[in-house]
Parts: sequence; C-alpha cells; structure tokens
Amino acid sequence: MKDKQFLMIPGPTPVPETALLAMAKHPMGHRSAEFSDVLKEVFEDLKWVFQTEENVFLYTSSGTGAMEAAIYNLVNPGDKVLSLVIGNFGERWAKISKMRGADVEMISADWGKAIDPAVLKQRLDQDVNKEIKFVTLTHNETSTGVTNDLKTLNEIIQEHGAISIVDGVTSVGAIQLKMDEWKVDVVVSGSQKGFMIPPGLAFLACSKKAWKAYENCKCPSFYFNFGAYKKSAAEFTTPYTPNISLIMALGETMKMMKAEGLENMFDRHARLAAGLRTAVRRMGLKLFVEDDSIASNAITSILPPDGITVPQIRKTLSKDFDIVVANGQAQLENKIFRMGHLGFVSERDLITAIGSLEMALTKLGYEVPKGEATTAAIKTMLKA
Ligand SMILES: Cc1ncc(COP(=O)(O)O)c(C=O)c1O
Repeated sequence: MKDKQFLMIPGPTPVPETALLAMAKHPMGHRSAEFSDVLKEVFEDLKWVFQTEENVFLYTSSGTGAMEAAIYNLVNPGDKVLSLVIGNFGERWAKISKMRGADVEMISADWGKAIDPAVLKQRLDQDVNKEIKFVTLTHNETSTGVTNDLKTLNEIIQEHGAISIVDGVTSVGAIQLKMDEWKVDVVVSGSQKGFMIPPGLAFLACSKKAWKAYENCKCPSFYFNFGAYKKSAAEFTTPYTPNISLIMALGETMKMMKAEGLENMFDRHARLAAGLRTAVRRMGLKLFVEDDSIASNAITSILPPDGITVPQIRKTLSKDFDIVVANGQAQLENKIFRMGHLGFVSERDLITAIGSLEMALTKLGYEVPKGEATTAAIKTMLKA
C-alpha cells in the first residue's frame, strides 16, 4: 500500500514527522547567527547522548566516514592496531586501518559470538613493550546482532594503555554507552540509526588521551580533520558546508530523545528486543544469537524455518505487509534475516511486525500457532 512502508532494517530507521517537516524547509545560511544557535544546541545535545564532556564532531558523511576520520586522524602508518572482530563492521575497522598502512592484528570471534574479555586480556598482557597503540572494536555488531561487553573490554584496554576506538553506530542512543564514565577514547556513530533521521551525518567524540595521538599524527585527514572540527565547534559552526536540512531534523529528534530520557530510551530498546526474541522462539524459529546476555537490543537475527528461504520471507513481508526486513550480510546472506528495532520504533510497531511475520510464515506454508507469538511478546513487554 502506498505510503505504508515500515522500515525494520537496522538503519535507516523510520523518521518522525517533525523531523521530516524540518527537512522540508528552505536551508538557512550555514554561517548565519540563526544556524549557529541551532548548532549550539545540537552540539550540547550530542554530548548528552554520547555521555561525554568532550566535543562531538559532526561530519557530513555516513557512519563509515567517522570510522575513517578516527583512523586517519590518530593512526600513523606502521602503528600497531589490534582489531576485535565479531562481524562485518568489526572487519571494516581492520580494513580501514590496513589502508592507512597500520600493522593490523585481529582477534576474531565466530559470527554470532562476542569477544571474550579473557582472550583480549591475555593478548594485551603479552604486549609488555606496549607495541599495540590502538584497539578497534564494535559495540553493537549489526551484521550478527551481538553486543560486545564494551565496559569490560574497555577496562582491559585502559589497563594496558592503548587507545580504544569504538564503533557505536547502532548503539549510541539505543544501548547504554557511558563514554566518559567508562573512559572510552573514541566513539563514532551515524544519523540513520538511534538518532532517527535519514543517513548523511556522522558523529565522533574523542577523549583527551586520544587527542594526544591526534597531535602526534604525522599526516591527519583534511576533510575530517579533528583540529578543524574542534576549532569550529568552539565557534558553533562547521569547517565546511554541512547538511543543514539534516541538522534541522536532528534538532527535532534530539528534543524527542531528551523528552524520553536516556534510561527510558535504553529500556524501550531492551523491552522491544526481549519481546521479539520471545515471539521468535514461540513461533518455533531459531535466533542466530541464542545467548540473550549478548543479544543486541537494536537488531535481532533470525533463521528461517526449514523449507522457507530468507528471500521468500523478505518478499512476503514487503509485498503483503509493507514491512522491510534486512537480509544477512556477507557469509550470512540468505542464512538469516535481520529485524531492526532501533530509533523511532515503539511497542505498537513491534506487535504489528510480529503479527505480520506470523501471517507471512503461514502464507509461505509454515504452521505457526496463530497469535501465540504476538501474545507472548505482549506479555514479555508488559513484564519488562
Ligand atoms: C555497526 C555499524 N558500523 C558501521 C556502519 C556503517 O555505517 P554507514 O553505512 O552509515 O557508513 C553500520 C551501518 O549499518 C553499522 O551498523
């Protein structure tokens, strides 16, 4: 049905109407006092979401731009980078670092698992000469639906002394991440996820410890240059022409986020994820991440039942129910489908999606006890 589409992919997420309307206005001049006032508030709000006192740089790019910004402003060619890889996005840190000319070592876990803190500790304890300068990691691995225990992993990294560079693209605003309190050095994120606006803005915050690495960086990035962004942030502006319309939209969604409050936002995401996991199990389907203690609150990966393919499920949900879910990525393509439940998503949306999935599977010939999964999800969400 026209205009009925509901995106349940892990970004872009649905966008609230106030944000859409803000984007529909003529752009204001990006060097005007009026726009500086908007930026001043947005910069403050970003610090609040990132839970940091440091500046949060606002880049006109997708999330990967902020990942590249982190590596190219901090890492010198030849520096040793340890990349913790649990999926596609963890691999991306390693690829960017290799392209930078870093000496990259990886600790990988099977897709669907989290990094074992003991394995990281053992490796960093061996590094008595402190050759490892940076550790990259993904907080919430969107390709699998696993959330790493960032707090514990970062404690181990800080004990060693390396700089932690964290992908918070699908965790900031959805899953607890206390940047300053946990002493995380660098956090990056993107607009089309927990921030509830379309793709096109990326965010990066960096600690004082990481700033020293920037000062020692022999060939930092030009467009993403930390120094240029810090100077501009102090003047409530940006070094280059920003995506004004997206920033106006961000101003609106930030108001919504503040009205809800951080803890309530995290609780909502946890409640939705728990509801969906209950429903999936009730339907007799298998979760790709069976261990709830590492399962993501932002995205859930589900295996199709025997005899039904991922493309069939995606097609039926899209054609008959206007719900878009994601395929698996890379080695998980056509093995799992992924339902995103981050950002502008409520219990009502989840109930609709679960009911639609029950109907879609029935149409495809898989016997689901009708309504039971939806009821189970409702009960779980009410209890949570
Ligand atoms: C965990 C994670 N990191 C990085 C990215 C890359 O972000 P973008 O596609 O905005 O460049 C994504 C995108 O889905 C992601 O989920």
